[in-house]
Amino acid sequence: MTPRPLPRPRILLIGADGQVGWELNRSLTPLGQVIAASLDGARGPRVDLADLRSTRALVEESAPDVVVNAAAYTAVDKAEGEAELARCINVEVPGMLGELLRGRGVPIIHYSTDFVFSGESKRPYREDDEPGPLNVYGETKLGGEQSLLASGANAIILRTSWVYGVRGHNFVRTMLRLFAEREELRVVDDQVGAPTWSRMLAEVTAQILYRILRGDLELERIKGVYHATNGGETSWFNFARTILHVSGGSCSLLAIPTSEYRTPACRPAYSVLDNAKLEETFGLSLPDWEVSLRQCLDDLGYCAGRQDRLNRPIQD
Ligand SMILES: NC(=O)c1ccc[n+]([C@@H]2O[C@H](COP(=O)([O-])OP(=O)(O)OC[C@H]3O[C@@H](n4cnc5c(N)ncnc54)[C@H](OP(=O)(O)O)[C@@H]3O)[C@@H](O)[C@H]2O)c1
Repeated sequence: MTPRPLPRPRILLIGADGQVGWELNRSLTPLGQVIAASLDGARGPRVDLADLRSTRALVEESAPDVVVNAAAYTAVDKAEGEAELARCINVEVPGMLGELLRGRGVPIIHYSTDFVFSGESKRPYREDDEPGPLNVYGETKLGGEQSLLASGANAIILRTSWVYGVRGHNFVRTMLRLFAEREELRVVDDQVGAPTWSRMLAEVTAQILYRILRGDLELERIKGVYHATNGGETSWFNFARTILHVSGGSCSLLAIPTSEYRTPACRPAYSVLDNAKLEETFGLSLPDWEVSLRQCLDDLGYCAGRQDRLNRPIQD
């Protein structure tokens, strides 16, 4: 008799077209059947999170064993003028998902941000440090953490920071484009954080999910908020300088203070997150930001065959 294959877990991935979602679609595939939902429905079901009925129907129809929500309203400056929409997607949706999933005993992994903090700390923020968002995006992401936790669902919330990757709108891709277009660039030097490669975050998520699906984790005990960023810290200016160096571009970079680069939303001056809880609980850590940046640029074709550049220290 031919053995019948075991049913593969159904993983509902919401936001499959975002920077993190796109990487998750690859990283989660070995773990089960990924139902890749997105706003345009390019890879699976279509869902508009601004329409709560369509979000509820997605969960009901896909009958998932686990949910990963990588979708969010992420336009930090635009959110200042679109607070209602940002609140719906970032606060109401996580709360509603939590309520729907708690009743079904389905765990959820969700993402939040370093922008829940005010930036006044002198050391990396820990999960239980007092939040104090400076902008609408940060407020709504904090609201989303709270609504999801209040639902009582088995939720793991990964707070991350300064996300970039091979797709989507992000600092690395913007810099690469501008290096080719401009002779000089002014970049803010007094905001410090940890750039995080979306692929590393997706890998960490897959590792956590693997243990959840195997039943290795006592979810009731470990549910809650975790910080998950690449290691180390840097300013936007030094981040740009490193991208320039590793990619081999030529452009003159000028360090400027935030006061010379006005944006509609205020940003924290210091938003490095302490990842010790992630390491202690799951035995997982992301490499130093520069290691991941070099790998990502390599993936983008900027270091291929240039091993000398990969390991060379940065000169002024
Ligand atoms: N990017 C960062 O620097 C950063 C930093 C800290 C934390 N995070 C968090 O990390 C998570 C992943 O972010 P990311 O960097 O991957 O952002 P992203 O690239 O902007 O992806 C967000 C996804 O959400 C989708 N989305 C937005 N509105 C939607 C709606 N009404 N219905 C359905 N989908 C909708 C977007 O679709 P469209 O593209 O089609 O609009 C996009 O695919 C988010 O929770 C974010 O808050 C990000």
